[in-house]
Amino acid sequence: MHEQRKIIIDTDPGQDDAVAILLALASPELEILGITAVAGNVPLALTEKNARKICELAGRPETLVFAGAVRPLVRKLVTAEHVHGRTGLDGPVLHEPKMPLQEQHGVDFLVETIMAHDAGEITLCTLGPLTNVALALIREPAIAAKTREIVMMGGGFFEGGNVTPTAEFNIYVDPHAADIVFRSGIPVIMMPLDVTHKALTTARRIEAFRTLGTQVGEATAKLLDFFERFDEEKYGTDGGPLHDPCVIAWLLKPELFSGRHCHVAIETGSELTMGMTVVDWWRVTGHPPNAQVMREIDSDGFFALLTERLARL
Ligand code: RIB
Ligand code: CA
Repeated sequence: MHEQRKIIIDTDPGQDDAVAILLALASPELEILGITAVAGNVPLALTEKNARKICELAGRPETLVFAGAVRPLVRKLVTAEHVHGRTGLDGPVLHEPKMPLQEQHGVDFLVETIMAHDAGEITLCTLGPLTNVALALIREPAIAAKTREIVMMGGGFFEGGNVTPTAEFNIYVDPHAADIVFRSGIPVIMMPLDVTHKALTTARRIEAFRTLGTQVGEATAKLLDFFERFDEEKYGTDGGPLHDPCVIAWLLKPELFSGRHCHVAIETGSELTMGMTVVDWWRVTGHPPNAQVMREIDSDGFFALLTERLARL
């Protein structure tokens, strides 16, 4: 087997975050050095607890989970209980976690871990607002040159936004953090709504999880049954977009995705387009590309990978 890829997952669980974390925990190609929680879908007190619930569901209570930022850099926290439910993980009944939350602050864990490794060893996988990563970059700018890449779910371009007509939730919640990250020089692999809206949790795909006949399969089906209802109503589709697992799936099978190396800038001035990811897809600005912007996905291949891997837990 190839050498394991060392990753840190930054997340705001969230049902789709949960499936992404399960996929990562089920995949031996990846060494998860730690999971840092951030405020987003629900407040930090819930996202850090949800991260621990998911690790225990996967039978991995030894995973290091840290709490990070409690609110965005500048703006007031905007949450999404209407999508994820009051707990942030509505759907299955998941017991209170017994595994501990680490004492160290998530931002300090990010800085310390990246600085303790050789350059190019650590990949950051961000599934929520980029507050923790931005704070780490401000705390220790040297991490920019040492981080291999950031694989992130966030943004949208041809697909528009899902919070406002132009902004996707992760970027909208903390546009100033996203601006810092996209200007940092760290290579970014971007999974925007343009890709995730093509990964729909259809009834057949959810059934494949349920028929795994395992606790993880059952919980995953219940998480997705709950999570999809909001987007099915909004988009009139069979199933809702499964955003965050695209980040982990790219690490495992990058050939499932295709896109283009573009310059991406973040709107932080206008309230009308606040948090928009302005993707120079047609290269009209002359600005140097700073992100690999994904636009296509082999969705059948994606769900086959997900189902095969979750069957291992
Ligand atoms: O817009 C989708 C993103 O916002 C996903 O990461 C979801 O979990 C929420 O955080
Ligand atoms: Ca998320």
